[in-house]
Amino acid sequence: SHPATLILGIGELTTNAPEAVLADLGVDAVGDPTGLVRDAALLLDGGRVAWVGAERDCAEGVERALGRAPDRVVGVEGRAVVPGFVDSHTHLVFAGDRSAEFEARMAGRSYAAGGIRTTVAATRAASDDELRARLRRHVDEALAQGTTTIEVKGGYGLSVADEERAVRLAAEATDEVTFLGAHVVPVDFDGRADDYVDLVCGEMLAACAPHSRWVDVFCETGAFTPEQSRRVLEAGAAAGLGVRVHANQLGPGEGVRLAVDLGAAAVDHCTYLSDDDVAALAESWAGEAQGTVATLLPGVEFSTRHPYPDARRLLDAGAVVALASDCNPGSSYTSSMPLMVALAVREMSMTVAEAVWAATAGGALALRRDDVGHLAPGARADVVVLGAPSRAHLAYRPGVPLVHAVWKDGVAAHS
Ligand code: NIG
Ligand code: FE
Repeated sequence: SHPATLILGIGELTTNAPEAVLADLGVDAVGDPTGLVRDAALLLDGGRVAWVGAERDCAEGVERALGRAPDRVVGVEGRAVVPGFVDSHTHLVFAGDRSAEFEARMAGRSYAAGGIRTTVAATRAASDDELRARLRRHVDEALAQGTTTIEVKGGYGLSVADEERAVRLAAEATDEVTFLGAHVVPVDFDGRADDYVDLVCGEMLAACAPHSRWVDVFCETGAFTPEQSRRVLEAGAAAGLGVRVHANQLGPGEGVRLAVDLGAAAVDHCTYLSDDDVAALAESWAGEAQGTVATLLPGVEFSTRHPYPDARRLLDAGAVVALASDCNPGSSYTSSMPLMVALAVREMSMTVAEAVWAATAGGALALRRDDVGHLAPGARADVVVLGAPSRAHLAYRPGVPLVHAVWKDGVAAHS
């Protein structure tokens, strides 16, 4: 089921591997955080990367790593190869459609978090099988575009039974499941936000934690206050969940600093940041422990017409930036990580190398995963072959399906 596969003829291989690892393999990639190797080869075995290096060294590399001939040899004829995309932020357990809301927005209406309630009603009304089928279809759609690791949140149930169902179904599709009971206050709790937070921190968390790895909250005017958000995140952490936060999407606020304060793995959106927010995000990486990743979701700005987040300001300050799709029916109904790369490069002043890194290694850091997002020996064999000679084509040819082939866990998943 995991045939040893040697991929030859890689024109340009993004490994995201540290210099020292590449130096050990006889590859020189000094000063390049994306560990770019030209005229490269890659050996996959047992669902992991077994060897990587220059193609001219591959006979020796394969002998050393495998000690026998590979089961398969695939030539990719000079195409570019990147690690599978790591989409660290999606909301794929939902039913219904909000294209009319999008259309109205494009005609001048502004985005409001209250639209979430429309999807809540549709999601509550859907059967398990319908939600499961839609989730599967969206995860497959993402995979066909090169996403091999995907985080999936609940957040469109907003009752104990509906949120439990959301994370239970999400866990059938991915290991990266997030409990987002605190997405907005549901209609049935109108004017009683604190009572709803009690429910989220109590019975709802208890029902959802067994299916989840993460807790998340939408800390924003119109959703939850910083105090309410802190309660939810601390309760989740006490239940053993990792912390991630939605914040500073629609305006400035305290969410980013709260996330850093609580040692969140990531704070997502980061569209409206103060100098203090930027400094706090950068400083979170100063110590030994992992800091808080600023995950930018440009699909949201694309479809809400807010200004794009200032990636340059974050990167120049030394913060760690990831890119994710935020795929959801309201603010960003796209599962395309190549589109996020294109938007980051065209609209957010990120270099191609920074954007590709943020969509792979950055997403892995945002999920605190060291087995994905890079292609050094030992990494998961999650590999995307682009139908293009360089990764720059991800931004250079926006909107074009550029994924030629995908391996997930060393198994050909799409071609
Ligand atoms: O990440 N920001 C909050 N939640 C989603 C939007 C959900 C919706 O509009 O349905 C987001 O953008
Ligand atoms: Fe979101």
